[in-house]
Amino acid sequence: MFSSIVILCFVLTSSVVQAAGLIEVLQNSDASEYANFIQSDPTLSALYSSGQAQTVFAPIDGSVQPSLRKVRRQTSPAQEQQGSFQGVQRLNSYASLSIPPGAILKSLDKSGNIGGNPQSVVSNPSDKTQSSANKRWASHLSPPNGNYSSLLKIYSGLGNFVNIIYADIPFDGGLVHVVDGYFTLPQPLSTTASANGHTSFLSAANSSNLTSSLDNTPSLTVFIPNNGAFSQSNASSIYPSSSSLLSGHIIPNFLGYLPALSNGAIFTTTAGTNVTITIKGSDYYVNNAKIIASNQILENGVAHVVDAIIEPSTPLPLPFEASAPPTKTILTAFLVGTIAALWFAAGIII
Ligand SMILES: *[C@@H]1O[C@H](CO)[C@@H](O)[C@H](O)[C@H]1NC(C)=O
Ligand SMILES: *[C@@H]1O[C@H](CO)[C@@H](O)[C@H](O)[C@H]1NC(C)=O
Ligand SMILES: *[C@@H]1O[C@H](CO)[C@@H](O)[C@H](O)[C@H]1NC(C)=O
Ligand SMILES: *[C@@H]1O[C@H](CO)[C@@H](O)[C@H](O)[C@H]1NC(C)=O
Repeated sequence: MFSSIVILCFVLTSSVVQAAGLIEVLQNSDASEYANFIQSDPTLSALYSSGQAQTVFAPIDGSVQPSLRKVRRQTSPAQEQQGSFQGVQRLNSYASLSIPPGAILKSLDKSGNIGGNPQSVVSNPSDKTQSSANKRWASHLSPPNGNYSSLLKIYSGLGNFVNIIYADIPFDGGLVHVVDGYFTLPQPLSTTASANGHTSFLSAANSSNLTSSLDNTPSLTVFIPNNGAFSQSNASSIYPSSSSLLSGHIIPNFLGYLPALSNGAIFTTTAGTNVTITIKGSDYYVNNAKIIASNQILENGVAHVVDAIIEPSTPLPLPFEASAPPTKTILTAFLVGTIAALWFAAGIII
C-alpha cells in the first residue's frame, strides 16, 4: 500500500515534470535560448504554462531578436508581446501549414489595433525556398514528416518571413516548430510601406493628409500599389483625388489575410467601389491588379502589394463628371469633401 502511494506520488511528480515539457523540448531542439527567454519573464512563463499555446514557433539558438519599437501603445513590455506572438492558439502540424493557400495562425498576442482580435501570422506554401547548406535539417532531429525538399515560410510584420527548420516536435501541450528567426512584430501601415520602399503610396497618403488615419484605423485590409504601378498608370484618370485612390485600395473592417481572399469574392472598399478577387493558379488578382507580395501583417490589419492601380469595377465619378455620392466610409470626410468641391466647381461653371 505504502509503496503504491510512493509509486503514485512518483507518477504524479513525473507528470508534473512532463507539464514543463515545453522547456525541455526547446532545450533539446536547439532552442534553449528561447526557453530562457520564456523563463526569464513570469508573464510569458505563465502564458506558456497555461496550455494556450498549442503550436510554438521557437527561434533557433543564435537568432537575433528584432529591435523593438521604443514607443508602444501597449502597457506590456515588448518582450511579452514578442513571446505572445511566437505562440499560436491551435495545433498546426507542418502538413496542415503546407496546404495551399496557407493557414492563418492566431497568436496569443492581442495587443494589435484589430478590434480585440489576436494578431496572426500566415503560412505561404506557394513560396517555399529550397533547403540550403545553412538551413538544412539538423542531423539529430527529424525533418518534417513527409518528404519535403524545401522550407515553409511563415509571414509576419513588415512582410518579413521565417523558415521552419525543424517541424512537428511534440511537447505535452502541442507542437514546436523551430524557425530560423523571430517573427517581426506588426507595425503601422506607413512604417510597413516605408520599410518596403513604397514611396509613391506614402506620398499619396502624405499629400492627402491620410497617413495618421491609415495608421490608426483598426482592422484594415490594404492593397499597396508599388512604385511601378503609380508610374505606369494615369491614376488621375481612374480616381478623382489621392484620397479616393487610397480609399479605393482599402477594405474596411476586414482582416483579409491571403487565405481569407476566396476566388470570386467581392469586397466594397472605403471609397465605395467594389473589387473582385480572382485566383489564377497560385496568383491572386484584385480586379486588374496582381498581388505580388502578401501578408504583411500590420498593427492595424494586413497589407498586400499589388502591381497596378486597382481599377474599380464601376468607374468612380471623375472631376466634372460627378454623379453618385459615395457610400459610408471611414474616410468619408475626405471623399465627400472632394465630391462637394467638384459639385461646387461644376455649379459655378454651369
Ligand atoms: C511622409 O511624411 C512623413 C512625415 O512628415 C515623412 O517622414 C515622410 O518622408 C513622407 N513620405 C513621403 C514618401 O513623402
Ligand atoms: C491633417 O490632419 C490633422 C488631423 O488628422 C489636422 O490636425 C491637420 O490640420 C491636417 N493638416 C492639413 C495640412 O490638412
Ligand atoms: C490622365 O488622365 C486625365 C483624365 O482623364 C487627363 O486629363 C490627363 O491628360 C491624363 N494624363 C496623361 C499623362 O495621360
Ligand atoms: C458592389 O457589389 C454589391 C454586391 O456585392 C452590389 O450590391 C453593389 O451595387 C456594388 N456596388 C458598386 C458600386 O458596384
